[in-house]
Amino acid sequence: MTVLGIETSCDETSAAVVRNGRVLSNVVYSQVKSHAEFAGVVPELASRMHMERLPAIIERALRGAFGKNASLKTVRRYVSAVAFTQGPGLMGALLMGKIAAQTLAEAHGLRLIGVNHLEGHALAMCLEQKVKAPFMTLIVSGGHTELVHVRTAGRYNVIGRTRDDAAGEVFDKVAKFLRLGYPGGPMVDRLAAKGNPAAVPFTRPMMPGTWDFSFSGIKTAVLYYVRDSGYAGEGRVRPAVPADKTLPEKFTSDLCASFQEAVVDTLVEKTIAAAKRKKVRRVVVGGGVAANRRLREKFKTRAKEEGLSVHFPSMSLCTDNAAMIAYAGALKLKAGRAGKKLAVDPSMRIRSWAA
Ligand code: KG4
Ligand code: ZN
Repeated sequence: MTVLGIETSCDETSAAVVRNGRVLSNVVYSQVKSHAEFAGVVPELASRMHMERLPAIIERALRGAFGKNASLKTVRRYVSAVAFTQGPGLMGALLMGKIAAQTLAEAHGLRLIGVNHLEGHALAMCLEQKVKAPFMTLIVSGGHTELVHVRTAGRYNVIGRTRDDAAGEVFDKVAKFLRLGYPGGPMVDRLAAKGNPAAVPFTRPMMPGTWDFSFSGIKTAVLYYVRDSGYAGEGRVRPAVPADKTLPEKFTSDLCASFQEAVVDTLVEKTIAAAKRKKVRRVVVGGGVAANRRLREKFKTRAKEEGLSVHFPSMSLCTDNAAMIAYAGALKLKAGRAGKKLAVDPSMRIRSWAA
């Protein structure tokens, strides 16, 4: 089965072709440069850019998979279904992907499959590794932090989620008030590599008694630390660092390393504890924050100590991409669960569809 995937939930415009679990092409156009000057994603701009770029991105994905003669006009020769991201995500951005997918499907008589973005992240690693369910999946992205007990593909039990900020969101917000640029995760990751993770002893919000997470406290602690060190703007809480002030390099790298360590410790320890409690031997990590080098390193060390295996997608499949959407869509289609209700939903939750 050959499926064309379309992903437009946030600021990546992506199209991919997946055949029988193998990625034939995966084209990702990142809009990050266009949003950087606003230090965050501007929904209206994201929708417009998806609309403008999507036809060319889809054609690139088709040509990448099938050669230079493949095009939107000849798509039917090559693929049997189109999978698109239904949610969660930005409403206008999701609509652009849906309209493109639906138009192609109706014009060419292809099957149309709606896919949950988080399900895509949870299963992305299956495109590269043979990992048998059940596993405990940690989905860590810019909008979500969820612990999902995956019994099998299509059977999901969400056991914990963030009660406030998502993990990627705190990376982005901390970077924003340190004026490090957008998106913050990769910047903090890079600076943290040069810093001392024990320099500032931030509390780990372990929240005993629940598998839920809470990261807004660490974010505020970072902000107060900057203010109490004399670097915050006068009488202002946000942005903490005035535009005309440059933070000392060592201060910034130690702060980034310490902040990152607190977030990583919390994610790793809670996920491992959940896997052990649910008697699952495999841990899977997905979403943009899964690209974090310290998170990957610490998960590997701790999983080994606990006799668990841990699996990450390669970097390009951690962040938003259409290959994971095509893959999850193919599974649903194979199981006869392509779905009839294909409305987009900005706050869609991951739900089981398999019996
Ligand atoms: O999954 P994703 O591409 O988009 C969403 O579904 O949100 O995740 C984007 C998030 C952003 O918050 C970004 O800062 C974070 O992933 N991220 C990272 C790293 N690379 C991306 N966070 C920490 N370390 C990284 N290396
Ligand atoms: Zn995502």
